[in-house]
Amino acid sequence: MSEQTLSNLMNEDRRFEPPADLAADANVREEAYARGDADPEAFWADAAERLDWGRKWDRVLDWDDPPFAKWFVGGTLNAAVNCVDRHVDAGHGDKVAIHFVGEPEDDTRDLTYAQLKDEVCKATNALVELGVAKGDRVAIYMPMIPETVVAMLACARLGAPHTVVFGGFSADALANRVVDCGAEVIITSDGGFRRGAPSALKPAVDEAVGKASEQGQAVRSVLVVRRTGQDVDWDDSRDLWWHDAVDGQSADHEAEMHDSEHPLYVMYTSGTTGKPKGILHTTGGYLVGTSFTHWEVFDLKPETDVYWCTADVGWVTGHSYMAYGPLANGCTQVMYEGTPDSPHKGRWWEIVEKYGVTIFYTAPTAIRTFMKWGDDIPAKFDLSSIRLLGSVGEPINPEAYVWYRENIGAGSVPVVDTWWQTETGQIMISPLPGVTHGKPGSAMKALPGVAADVVDDLGASVPNGSGGYLVLQKPWPAMLRTLWGDDERFKDTYWSRYAEKGFYFAGDGAKKDDDGDIWLLGRVDDVMNVSGHRLSTTEIESALVSHPKVAEAAVVGAADDTTGQAVCAFVILRESALEGGEAAPDELIEELRKHVQKEIGAIAKPRQVMIVPELPKTRSGKIMRRLLKDVAEHREVGDVTTLADSTVMDLIKDKEGSGA
Ligand code: WT7
Repeated sequence: MSEQTLSNLMNEDRRFEPPADLAADANVREEAYARGDADPEAFWADAAERLDWGRKWDRVLDWDDPPFAKWFVGGTLNAAVNCVDRHVDAGHGDKVAIHFVGEPEDDTRDLTYAQLKDEVCKATNALVELGVAKGDRVAIYMPMIPETVVAMLACARLGAPHTVVFGGFSADALANRVVDCGAEVIITSDGGFRRGAPSALKPAVDEAVGKASEQGQAVRSVLVVRRTGQDVDWDDSRDLWWHDAVDGQSADHEAEMHDSEHPLYVMYTSGTTGKPKGILHTTGGYLVGTSFTHWEVFDLKPETDVYWCTADVGWVTGHSYMAYGPLANGCTQVMYEGTPDSPHKGRWWEIVEKYGVTIFYTAPTAIRTFMKWGDDIPAKFDLSSIRLLGSVGEPINPEAYVWYRENIGAGSVPVVDTWWQTETGQIMISPLPGVTHGKPGSAMKALPGVAADVVDDLGASVPNGSGGYLVLQKPWPAMLRTLWGDDERFKDTYWSRYAEKGFYFAGDGAKKDDDGDIWLLGRVDDVMNVSGHRLSTTEIESALVSHPKVAEAAVVGAADDTTGQAVCAFVILRESALEGGEAAPDELIEELRKHVQKEIGAIAKPRQVMIVPELPKTRSGKIMRRLLKDVAEHREVGDVTTLADSTVMDLIKDKEGSGA
């Protein structure tokens, strides 16, 4: 974030009080903060009462061996039973759990809690028949269809940790994840619908199975949902249609109560090195943290609210605030398969109007896109059902916040800017809509029971009005337990920087304003945030270097009006690629962009590739990305005195000037 934006942020002084009716009937009141401060364990134990336990815990938190936490020790529960069975048992079987809206306009389907329970039980029985046992990992690579949630809950029911891989990721990315967590079964579909056309998934799975097997990981079954009906290659020894395997199963399945610390899922996310990190979430604490905060932050009234989170289930937001949190709370929600602009740019608002959505949760990048498309588009629809708006994934700039409130929230609906991470599992910093007044651009303060601060290099709390690093000072129920198979990297990444203080280092820069409220300022490590998706600079650099024409690459995230940040790559070509004169750069640039897309996925495709003769390096050989960022953001290049060769930046700027 540029200095300019920073000072703009700090001059933001608009304030919005909570609406009186919301405040009067709010799920969580001011007093919760004091309760959470006084005795966080008692606070979370209280929150845990909202779930059904097989056996109650003996101890709320075991923090005897930090940073390895155990929550609700000795307790047992089943996540799927909490998300479906208990609502049916309580007489809510006929309530709609999911209003599914497919991308094709007439393709809609309502699933009640009773139907969802039957589907989950059938799928569980099918997995058992496939030989999946408690503890086995199952990879899920699916579009946004109800079967994806069914598959996740079936895994949870069995105690087989799932790893959902976003459908936009490449075959390589899928293969790496399958290998890392040792999955022998993949659940997928022939494809999904995207902007009016079927888009295939199964071919990527076929390729990934081959690649995984080269790396020693055999995938023995692939369960395939028929979604689009497109042709697929088929291997009888391994592939199985979902409708053949699942539909004929019994809808009864006796669920086992799993230990509170039994692994629920692994979600891979980008770190500062090329290798994605497998974030491990376990059962009890995760379900407490997600269901409680979903009820608290969105002021959920499960009897009347219609909730819609636009995230893909392939990301943590889709896990915590589409699958587990909302279903554990027994609410009705919308699930939409497609993009916001197909077949027209009012599609989302049409869905809000049709289903009477009351709580709407999306990302700043989407809001900025709608701003660009124009106020007249949402104005065509009746959005008066909306009573709460949420934002997640990246800092929301005050302009986008105010536009959201004005144009989607009728100028009166509170906006909750929720800060959290794949690692935190649950929302950590956010306003409480019935308590906290809104400040455009600020996530405000840590939720009750959560301890967050902004500190300096040494871990000392910074005074109001100053910036520093965001830390979390106390364990919380939905926290990651470790990185799959890599306790050392877990300690190193999050807990070593402030080891003496015992703080969790989030990797985000932040600032406290004069009131002590927190403003998130973006990542301070080599992680980019593009449209709310986390990408590693190193991972994209290694994808570029794997191209035969590339000798070296440096990637930076440059500010972008719509996507927050955009991937900008600086590439040095190999001598051999330069032979025969400068090969047509436009084609080569396109070739390199496509190469990254193939290696990682479309979200990682660079906005810009610049072919340069040199990269700016320190004497010890470290690339100074800060200087490249200056170039990518068209700024005066900063201090170059620590460069081994200070003339390098002139060479690079020449290239940028020539438009290459
Ligand atoms: C990173 C985590 C949380 C689910 C989606 C992303 C950034 C997230 C906010 C926010 C400013 C935010 C941070 C964080 N981030 N929410 N409200 N304001 N920044 O999950 O992929 O794990 O990314 O997203 O930089 O560290 P993720």
